[in-house]
Amino acid sequence: MSQCPDRRTMLRGAALAGAAGFGLSACTPDSGSAASAVPTAPVDLGAAAEVPVGGARLYREDRLVVSQPAKGDFKCFSAMCTHKGCVLTEVDKKEGSCPCHGSRFDVTTGEVIQGPASAPLPEVPVKAKNGKLIAG
Ligand code: FES
Repeated sequence: MSQCPDRRTMLRGAALAGAAGFGLSACTPDSGSAASAVPTAPVDLGAAAEVPVGGARLYREDRLVVSQPAKGDFKCFSAMCTHKGCVLTEVDKKEGSCPCHGSRFDVTTGEVIQGPASAPLPEVPVKAKNGKLIAG
């Protein structure tokens, strides 16, 4: 099942795209344009403590994944697969999985572990402020 919207859905959603803080060209295959899948405005992800040290947390509704390889060292990436734009559904320690065609990504670097995706997940700036994570 593809999670990419059809053209009609894209047009209907155009007015909402600004409010969501995301670009519309998220479903493009391996073109490098997946960078538009990153937020264009700051996103409050909630308590930084929810991201385990040595692990990661998926913020599927925000299409982001945050890892914390070492205490206080947060890394954030788009959770939209760079193959065809599906959103990752599972994160196990430092590995994120795409449900559509099986790509896997290292969520501490964004690098592809297993294809068919060939481009890394775009990195998103993230900071912890007053115990909260802010991405974008
Ligand atoms: Fe094909 Fe993710 S969309 S592997």
